[in-house]
Amino acid sequence: MKQQLESIQKQAMEKLAQASDLKELEELKVAYLGKKGELTQILKGMGTLSPQERPIIGQLANEIRGSLEEGILSAKNRLTRELRNERLKAEVIDVTMPGKMRPVGKKHPLTTVMDEMKDFFLGLGYEIAEGPEIELDYNSFEALNIPKNHPARDAQDTFYISENVVLRPHTSPVQIRHMMSNTPPIRIICPGRVYRSDTVDATHSPVFHQVEGLVVDKGVTMGDLVGTLQAFAKAIFGENSRIRLRPHHFPFTEPSAEVDVSCWGCDCSGCRICKGEGWVEILGAGMVHPNVLRECKIDPDIYSGFAFGVGVERITMGKYGIDDMRLLFENDVRFLKQF
Ligand code: DAH
Repeated sequence: MKQQLESIQKQAMEKLAQASDLKELEELKVAYLGKKGELTQILKGMGTLSPQERPIIGQLANEIRGSLEEGILSAKNRLTRELRNERLKAEVIDVTMPGKMRPVGKKHPLTTVMDEMKDFFLGLGYEIAEGPEIELDYNSFEALNIPKNHPARDAQDTFYISENVVLRPHTSPVQIRHMMSNTPPIRIICPGRVYRSDTVDATHSPVFHQVEGLVVDKGVTMGDLVGTLQAFAKAIFGENSRIRLRPHHFPFTEPSAEVDVSCWGCDCSGCRICKGEGWVEILGAGMVHPNVLRECKIDPDIYSGFAFGVGVERITMGKYGIDDMRLLFENDVRFLKQF
């Protein structure tokens, strides 16, 4: 029996040393010390021993039980320690590692310039009016006093969807829509996309942006137009900017003018931006033609108005020194992130 006990101890100790997880350890504990465990089984056979042997074996059995319990405890400590070390290793965080790049988007330069224009006119009390990009020929030309034989109506300039429907070639039809459904006083800007049948090159694109302006009220004069555009130029191109008006012709305004701003690159002494001119053309404007007011059921004997149309691409390119319009539409982030 003594040999049996010693071999159980030896075997148990070996197994304990090899136990690789807490579950296995628990199973070993049951296998040796449990009610039906090997050690317990042997102790049950003690009754067959002689009275001399009994205390000796009893003592040995207790010692073995004690040492098994100790062995289990130390195996448990070992396994817990190993488990913790493994977890710590797996959870290691290197705080010096570079973080994940999350690129931050930016406003497109066209949007920035549009927003600046909107801010300026909203500050003066204008409202924003919008209209459809697919527009009637009537709103785009007819009502704007552009006669049937006008070159702007040529299919070479305008995209026709049908005989009476076009992709709007300018934002001026929004004036018509607004005047048709509102009464003066009117103070609006109409920002939006416009289309022309142009081939893409450094200064042309079949789609571009305009901001139209319209003011109609009693006693509106050319002086109001000039003052407004002067303030606009200062807001967009800087405090030192001045404007000049050159006589021009638009069918929907009379008189009409093209408006230049003093070059922000050289203050009129001539540079690359103004191509040596000293001035840069930024928009078309004029006093709303009486025919246009009449068409919109506004009496030109009571009311007068001014209107202007700004090309957003041209201003954006001028402001930022961009020399090719295609850059504004290709959306190469290497280009866009500079702004
Ligand atoms: N519609 C003109 C164009 O696309 C721009 C323009 C000029 C608009 C004069 C106006 C204006 O309202 O008064 O070229």
